Amino acid sequence: MKTSSGLKCLFLFSLLLIASALVAQPGIHMLQSGKPVSFRGLSVVSDKIIWASGSSGTVVRSVDGGANWEWITVPGYEKRDFRDIEAFDADTAVIMGIAEPAVILKTVDGGKNWEKVFEDHAKGVFLDAMAFTPGSGLGIAIGDPLEGTNTPYQVITHDNGSTWKKVSMGKTTLQEGEAFFASSGSNLVMIGNHPIIVSGGRSSRILFADWSPLPIVQGGESTGANSVAVYRARYGIVVGGDFAKDTISTDNCVLFDIGDHAKLTIRKPKSDPHGYRSSVVYLSRKKLLTCGTSGVDLSGDGGDSWTLLSKEGFHVCQKAKKGKAVFLAGGNGKIARLEGTF
Ligand SMILES: *[C@@H]1O[C@H](CO)[C@@H](O)[C@H](O)[C@H]1NC(C)=O
Repeated sequence: MKTSSGLKCLFLFSLLLIASALVAQPGIHMLQSGKPVSFRGLSVVSDKIIWASGSSGTVVRSVDGGANWEWITVPGYEKRDFRDIEAFDADTAVIMGIAEPAVILKTVDGGKNWEKVFEDHAKGVFLDAMAFTPGSGLGIAIGDPLEGTNTPYQVITHDNGSTWKKVSMGKTTLQEGEAFFASSGSNLVMIGNHPIIVSGGRSSRILFADWSPLPIVQGGESTGANSVAVYRARYGIVVGGDFAKDTISTDNCVLFDIGDHAKLTIRKPKSDPHGYRSSVVYLSRKKLLTCGTSGVDLSGDGGDSWTLLSKEGFHVCQKAKKGKAVFLAGGNGKIARLEGTF
């Protein structure tokens, strides 16, 4: 009797342990930090393959889920800031250097060799972000208007970034003092073959079929939308704020629905993330993660309300394109993984 009830107890206790492990509180697990590199580009191919890019010509890669990282300084580009990266597998990735010259490089051997696939020395050229349509080869990089123009700068690839061509955005114009932020490579996202782009500065708007104003902080050089994400081409979110006042937690997030004929229905959430946020990602329809220099927030209700998860600052967060893993990267060489149940 005694033994069997003891066993029962042990059994129940083990069940409890397993259950509590299954609902482990989400948290940030730091994997790398302490190097003088600011990461703003992040591309998570799968739960195992992660690439990030940043300042001082730096690219890092892990092929074992973040246990080990290979640090690469791209030869000849030691002073460049690679603000965005798109990785296709463990060997293939494209990185974007922002300004004068704007440059895009591609590797097909895991970062050992980099080929220059695009370069523009035009005065005032400034690339902000790249986005690709999965599997199709189509990718777009956007940039701020060149001096003396008011149309966004755009280059397009149809072969996963091996060749690029400048393509005019036609009649699409930006307002005086409106531009794009290059804070996380995510102010551009593809819906099929069409980009959604968000702007900031003196005014902050979203461009799909047409421009729509965003109810987000704007009016100054450090204000506006920084990142846009969509879920199944139906639900969307924009985050941003004022990076010069990064703890203000009002008007730094906007939700939208994508209806028929590319019609966007835009609204404010019930509450905002706890500060300026430069990157946002859907973990599922209802769960979202957002990060910025003043911390990391989680939402469990589609972005309508937010819980501060950490005051650790990050520039960019991404979920595995094929998988469940979620990573963050930021200043001071920081790379982290989201752990627990989310
Ligand atoms: C682009 O890369 C994807 C893998 O992400 C691959 O499936 C596709 O065939 C490639 N397309 C081209 C045109 O290279």
